[in-house]
Amino acid sequence: MSSSSSWDKIVFFFISFLGLCSAIEVSYDGKSLIINGERRIIFSGAVHYPRSTEEMWPNIIQKAKDGGLDAIETYIFWNHHEPARRKYDFSENLDFVKFFKLIQQAGLYAILRIGPYACAEWNYGGFPLWLHKMPGIELRTDNQVFKNEMSIFTSKIVNMAKEAKLFASQGGPVILAQIENEYGNIMWGYGDAGKAYMKWCAQMALAQNIGVPWFMCQQDDAPEGIINTCNGYYCDTFQPNNPNSPKMWTENWIGWFQKWGQRNPHRTGEDVAYSVARFFQNGGVLNNYYMYHGGTNFGRSAGGPYIMTSYDYDAPVDEYGNLNQPKWGHLKQLHAAIKLGEKILTDGIRVDRDFGSLVTLTTYTSNTTGGRFCFLSNANEHQDAYIDLKDGNDKYFVPAWSVTILDNCSKEVFNTAKVNSQTSIMVKKNNYSELPTGKLTWAWRPEAMKDTMKGMGKFKSNQLLEQKDLTLDVSDYLWYMTTINIKDESAWKNATLRVNTQGHVLHSFVNKRFVGSEFSQWGNGFTFETPISLKRGRNIITLLSATVGLANYGVKFDLAKTGIEGGPIQLIGKNNVTMDISNSSWSYKIGLNGEVKRLYDPSMYTSSTNNPPVGRRMTWYATHFKTPSGTDPVVVDLQGMGKGEAWINGQSIGRYWPSMIASSDGCDEECDYRGAYKPEKCNYNCGNPSQRWYHVPRSFLNNNQGNTLVLFEEIGGNPQNVSFRTVTIGTICAYGYEGALLELSCQGEKTISEIQFASFGDPQGKCGSFQKGSWEANNSKAIVEAACLGKENCELSVTREAFSASGIGNNATTIRLAVQALC
Ligand SMILES: *[C@@H]1O[C@H](CO)[C@@H](O)[C@H](O)[C@H]1NC(C)=O
Ligand SMILES: *[C@@H]1O[C@H](CO)[C@@H](O)[C@H](O)[C@H]1NC(C)=O
Ligand SMILES: *[C@@H]1O[C@H](CO)[C@@H](O)[C@H](O)[C@H]1NC(C)=O
Ligand SMILES: *[C@@H]1O[C@H](CO)[C@@H](O)[C@H](O)[C@H]1NC(C)=O
Ligand SMILES: *[C@@H]1O[C@H](CO)[C@@H](O)[C@H](O)[C@H]1NC(C)=O
Ligand SMILES: *[C@@H]1O[C@H](CO)[C@@H](O)[C@H](O)[C@H]1NC(C)=O
Ligand SMILES: *[C@@H]1O[C@H](CO)[C@@H](O)[C@H](O)[C@H]1NC(C)=O
Ligand SMILES: *[C@@H]1O[C@H](CO)[C@@H](O)[C@H](O)[C@H]1NC(C)=O
Ligand SMILES: *[C@@H]1O[C@H](CO)[C@@H](O)[C@H](O)[C@H]1NC(C)=O
Repeated sequence: MSSSSSWDKIVFFFISFLGLCSAIEVSYDGKSLIINGERRIIFSGAVHYPRSTEEMWPNIIQKAKDGGLDAIETYIFWNHHEPARRKYDFSENLDFVKFFKLIQQAGLYAILRIGPYACAEWNYGGFPLWLHKMPGIELRTDNQVFKNEMSIFTSKIVNMAKEAKLFASQGGPVILAQIENEYGNIMWGYGDAGKAYMKWCAQMALAQNIGVPWFMCQQDDAPEGIINTCNGYYCDTFQPNNPNSPKMWTENWIGWFQKWGQRNPHRTGEDVAYSVARFFQNGGVLNNYYMYHGGTNFGRSAGGPYIMTSYDYDAPVDEYGNLNQPKWGHLKQLHAAIKLGEKILTDGIRVDRDFGSLVTLTTYTSNTTGGRFCFLSNANEHQDAYIDLKDGNDKYFVPAWSVTILDNCSKEVFNTAKVNSQTSIMVKKNNYSELPTGKLTWAWRPEAMKDTMKGMGKFKSNQLLEQKDLTLDVSDYLWYMTTINIKDESAWKNATLRVNTQGHVLHSFVNKRFVGSEFSQWGNGFTFETPISLKRGRNIITLLSATVGLANYGVKFDLAKTGIEGGPIQLIGKNNVTMDISNSSWSYKIGLNGEVKRLYDPSMYTSSTNNPPVGRRMTWYATHFKTPSGTDPVVVDLQGMGKGEAWINGQSIGRYWPSMIASSDGCDEECDYRGAYKPEKCNYNCGNPSQRWYHVPRSFLNNNQGNTLVLFEEIGGNPQNVSFRTVTIGTICAYGYEGALLELSCQGEKTISEIQFASFGDPQGKCGSFQKGSWEANNSKAIVEAACLGKENCELSVTREAFSASGIGNNATTIRLAVQALC
């Protein structure tokens, strides 16, 4: 082929322009990622774009950056992007390209987890339900139908990313990409086909030619060219299977998710910091928090069974976008401390020294400059340690279950158990001046059920069918209806209806009358029995089955059964005579009439009343409310309601179930950060609704015309106490250890209005009950007031000089400043 020389020059110029100005080279070896020739330590955090709104993204990204992150990681959510085969949606908060561009604008890197299996406590693990119905398909294994769909979707996302120049190789933010997810844990369940599939995934991914490395989480036999990474609460002992792969932690579980009926989990900042410091002490070079902002499972996106609407995850940025303090601040300081050693840690020579009792000093020495960086860890759960590194000169107090970071192996720059960040006590404010009567008035409509009460569905079968096979999850609801002819009335007057269901919730009606309900405790199958009375002649049995999120995890989770599949359903009459009606003629109807008629739409309601019905099943409620002033996040309190779904101005904010109460025991009075974390540790909110407050994103609200909240109440509730609040910081408390720079900050434009307590000395107690210790600097309070009162934020240097207390003894470990202030 011939080509003109001027063309060659233009092309050459274009390529060199790209190469010089934008392309970022990402490579790696066993020591670290190497970005544009520099060995890097990367702190990253997961933020799932559909779990917040476009309007929230910039603020969340900024908070991640301010928190010392280098990168943001997210999955791609296949089921939302391809709701129907080859019909794509990348609008609004599904605009992942915009999300990544915002990350880039903020100067951060990004990690792209295409999955396309997501897990993520996301409905059906992120698989579209139409996949489930494709003939011959088997998900996540060596199956041609599935592999074809997976490869088409993966290429679609990669091509969109390439078009938008999102990969670092094109000058974009994406430095790493992932294929499949945590397959290593469940591969055994698929036999040899699983192994073949995993290898195919690797080849398919590598063939996409994205110019940045690929990884697989928890795949300890990851093929050549793919980095296997760790997911877990602690990853210090993890080693990648390939010696040329850097040690990376793609999911540091910073908290935990919550199911309906569970207590709220809490993982302390001290323990998360400990896990991170241990990881870097042991050669880690990339840490991604799962989650950095958890957010909200809007609509019916929550996985299952029973994943709750709030996906707060106890993450550093809370569900609403507020800082979760002290966790956010403590980790910010940890990131800064570890970054001091970036050069030495990624290219140094490591030596460990054992002090006994699980105390270890790890020294990294730069091979080039001779510079040193140390971690001094105490993995003992109970015993604090005082460690002399140098003939009595350097005595370090290393509390139990903590790591001290020593810059130059001499200067303590951080200890994971010494928290120098404020605790923010959040409050939910009710501004009644915006609701003149202080109460909401309600309009309501019953769910129309004439058809289903008469047994009239859309199609019939002589079998009890699986729920999601029929609904394809377009609704939580499926009606199963049949008619039974009774000749001998006396045998069936006092009978029992017995239904075996695979879950999750069942309501039953006989001859148009409600006869009982039951829900599964944790989302598995159950047997429901209720007394019924059948009459002579035709009897109509109507069953409404509801799902609460489809399974998202486990071997072949996609095949987990829902609904009354197979039953059996029996009627038990006099003398235990049993009639199996599983194979009667069953009539089916998918979804609610109210869903079809769009009763979640504000225009469907006109007049309202002060006395809406209470405890009424299958009822739609609507109320009008003004937008709370200011910028603080808005929540709606649904205590008193039963179970259902909520919409704001026609947009779903998720399922609600405040009548689902968390167990009344198992909450720790004192949360001890020491010892290995597990989800049962440090629970709170025992005996209360597992979720009472529901996030109302401000972008769902109208500023002038007012707003409509619609509730579909499935099991019966009382809307009298439903109210709107804003979430903001009430009180802030902090301890600052000697030498620290303590930052205090209110939220938004609010200022510190009162210093309730301040003591530099050896103060005792906790937030809300601080006390002066055996001594204090006399002017503690006046000094703090001068620095902080009336300010949005302030910095306090916790030193003897600053508090004019140079005369005091040298009790270094006990000197600290305690402050309690009001915003
Ligand atoms: C340290 O540097 C020397 C000389 O450059 C090199 O031969 C050696 O392999 C390096 N050691 C390590 C552990 O990198
Ligand atoms: C580093 O530590 C050594 C002794 O451990 C000390 O002599 C030196 O001054 C320190 N350097 C810096 C920059 O702090
Ligand atoms: C309550 O709402 C009124 C009217 O919108 C506003 O002026 C006031 O500042 C609000 N108060 C608080 C505490 O937010
Ligand atoms: C129905 O059966 C229950 C127990 O199985 C019994 O207690 C009740 O008296 C019976 N009622 C009638 C009307 O037979
Ligand atoms: C019916 O069955 C139940 C439980 O299976 C049993 O306890 C009861 O005694 C039986 N009644 C009769 C009349 O057989
Ligand atoms: C119902 O039909 C299925 C499938 O034909 C069969 O396996 C089952 O035994 C039947 N059950 C009853 C109670 O007849
Ligand atoms: C509403 O709140 C009041 C006061 O806290 C309480 O007594 C009442 O039980 C609540 N009603 C409902 C339906 O939750
Ligand atoms: C505090 O004031 C008292 C009396 O004015 C004085 O005796 C004491 O030394 C002061 N303490 C400190 C720590 O400055
Ligand atoms: C310093 O510590 C010693 C021993 O723990 C104690 O006796 C002394 O009172 C402390 N001094 C101050 C100023 O707290």
